[in-house]
Amino acid sequence: MDQGWAQERARLAGIEALWDPGTCDVLTRSGVAPGSRVLEVGAGGGSIVQWLAVQVGHSGRVVAVDIDVRFVAPLASDVVEVCEVDVVTGELPAAQFDVVHARLLLEHLKDPAAVVLKLVDALIPGGRLVVEDYDWSGFGFESDDALNNRVTEGILSFMAAAGFDRTFGRRLVGVLAGAGLGPVEGNGRSLVVDCTHPGYDFFRLSFEQLAPGAERAGLIAADDVRMFRNRLDAGGPRVITPTLVTGIGHRPVP
Ligand SMILES: C[S@@+](CC[C@H](N)C(=O)[O-])C[C@H]1O[C@@H](n2cnc3c(N)ncnc32)[C@H](O)[C@@H]1O
Repeated sequence: MDQGWAQERARLAGIEALWDPGTCDVLTRSGVAPGSRVLEVGAGGGSIVQWLAVQVGHSGRVVAVDIDVRFVAPLASDVVEVCEVDVVTGELPAAQFDVVHARLLLEHLKDPAAVVLKLVDALIPGGRLVVEDYDWSGFGFESDDALNNRVTEGILSFMAAAGFDRTFGRRLVGVLAGAGLGPVEGNGRSLVVDCTHPGYDFFRLSFEQLAPGAERAGLIAADDVRMFRNRLDAGGPRVITPTLVTGIGHRPVP
C-alpha cells in the first residue's frame, strides 16, 4: 500500500472502525492495565496508541513504531514515545515490554517469522505478544457476481505481486508457536458491513488506491474499474470482511 497516498489516513480509519473494539478487548485480556509498558508496531493511524496511552496512564509507557510516523508523531507525550523504524531492517528495544502488539503488519512482510522473533525479543519474560492479520479466504461481496469477483481477484493479485500474503492469517498461530512462545491461543473475527458502516471506507479506498496499478499491470480491465466504481458510487455491495486472525502467546519465563 502507498503510505503517502492522500487518503491513506481515511483508509486507516476504516481499519480502525472495523477492528478497534475487538483489538482493545484482546489487549485488555492480555494484561494491558495502568503501569503497563506496551510496544505498538506498525502503529498506522494511531487509534490504538491513543487508547493504550489512556489505559497505561502516567505510570506506564507506550512506544509506537512505524516506518512512516506521519500520523502517530503528533501523539508523542510523556507517556507515548514515537519511533520511526523499519521493523525488517531496524532494531527494537530488547526485553522491555509487558505487551507487544502488531495488527495488519506481518502479512505485508517478506519474512514475517524473522520479524516475529524481534517482537518476542522486545518482551520481558512472561510478557504477551498479540498479533493480528487477515486471512482473505472468506472475503466476498453479498452478491456473488462475476464483476465483484473479478475486481476482488485483480486487487488481491496486485497486492500479492507486491509481496502481500493474502492467507497469512491462517498461518499466524503456527508462526507464533514456532517462535518459542508459550501455548499460543488463536481466534478469528469477521464482520458483515454495508456502505453505512465507517469501516466500509477501508474496502472503498483500498480499491481506489490499488485499482489504477492493477489496471496498469493488466490484472483488472479498465471497464471493470469503471463499472465497479459506479457500483461504489451508488453505495456498493455489502461486504463479508476477511477474517482477522488473532494470535496470543507469552514469552516463556526461563
Ligand atoms: C495496514 S496498516 C495497519 C495500521 C495499524 N496497525 C492498524 O491496524 O490500524 C500497516 C502499517 O504498518 C506500517 N509498516 C509497513 N511496513 C513496515 C515496516 N517494515 N516497519 C514498520 N512499519 C511498517 C505501515 O506504515 C502502516 O502504518
